[in-house]
Amino acid sequence: MTRLVTFADGTTVPALGQGTWMIGDDPSRGDAEQAALSRGIDLGLTLIDTAEIYGNGRSERLVGEVIAGRRDEVFLVSKVRPENASELKMMLSCEKSLERLGADRLDLYLLHWEGPIPIEETVEAFQELVDEGLIVRWGVSNLDFDAMQRLEQVDNGDLCAANQLLYHLGSRGIEYDLMPWMQSRDMPVMAYSPLGRGEILQHPLVMDIANRHGADPAQVALAFVLRQDGIIAIPKASSVEHVEQNAEALEIQFDLEDLERLEAAFPAPTTATPLDMI
Ligand SMILES: NC(=O)c1ccc[n+]([C@@H]2O[C@H](COP(=O)([O-])OP(=O)(O)OC[C@H]3O[C@@H](n4cnc5c(N)ncnc54)[C@H](OP(=O)(O)O)[C@@H]3O)[C@@H](O)[C@H]2O)c1
Repeated sequence: MTRLVTFADGTTVPALGQGTWMIGDDPSRGDAEQAALSRGIDLGLTLIDTAEIYGNGRSERLVGEVIAGRRDEVFLVSKVRPENASELKMMLSCEKSLERLGADRLDLYLLHWEGPIPIEETVEAFQELVDEGLIVRWGVSNLDFDAMQRLEQVDNGDLCAANQLLYHLGSRGIEYDLMPWMQSRDMPVMAYSPLGRGEILQHPLVMDIANRHGADPAQVALAFVLRQDGIIAIPKASSVEHVEQNAEALEIQFDLEDLERLEAAFPAPTTATPLDMI
């Protein structure tokens, strides 16, 4: 089942994409990682998330090898390091990412987290890249509720297309304020570490619900993250087997009992909490 998420500019992407942190780090795993990403694209997981910081460009290089000859099938996302998010440095960072990816444009370019450069300057630098055609749109990552409200006030800040945030069963703080605020602006939440980096899959309840549905724990974790509209999940899988399991996640239909048990074990926040991030 394919679920789509729509950006404010009307562009749609699949709700289930692929992450690539730590992919490309170990040459002996390269073939398996490439096969996994490639299979993911075949299965419709065509949004691929990477970053210049991942393995100092090794992740982008491996993604570049996977998408060679099929660039137009994918929605390519990369991220700029905070210290490079300036008018002076962002263009070069973006060009180097594009070179490693073998691409002439990014579909989405994100500020990895807020750093030393004033956000006004970062937005101006992003807009220059849009004007030059190097990126189609830009967004942010790891910006909390207050930071997003400040961003909205700066010139062109309202053009921010997405915020990539830690979100999984065991980390639901954004549901209290940031997620509804973003949803009211048609700004997708890109849920990173949606499998809790694998840890959540060992939880007895997640395993039990998976058993009830004849499913895998990863599918339960992903189906929970994707139970609402406007959310894109980017699990990282480095084997074909894992990516094939993940691609089936939206087949799970939770019943009321599943949801009540999950809510009891992983309660939603009842007050504002500091943004959780890795
Ligand atoms: N913006 C940010 O600051 C930020 C921070 C962290 C992550 N991210 C992005 O989000 C992506 C995903 O997050 P993540 O890599 O931290 O963690 P994750 O996707 O929550 O978990 C990845 C782990 O889950 C395992 N896994 C994947 N599919 C599985 C399956 N079907 N069954 C069992 N285990 C499975 C993977 O193992 P295998 O590798 O063996 O398949 C890996 O150990 C990253 O790759 C990156 O693109 C962004």
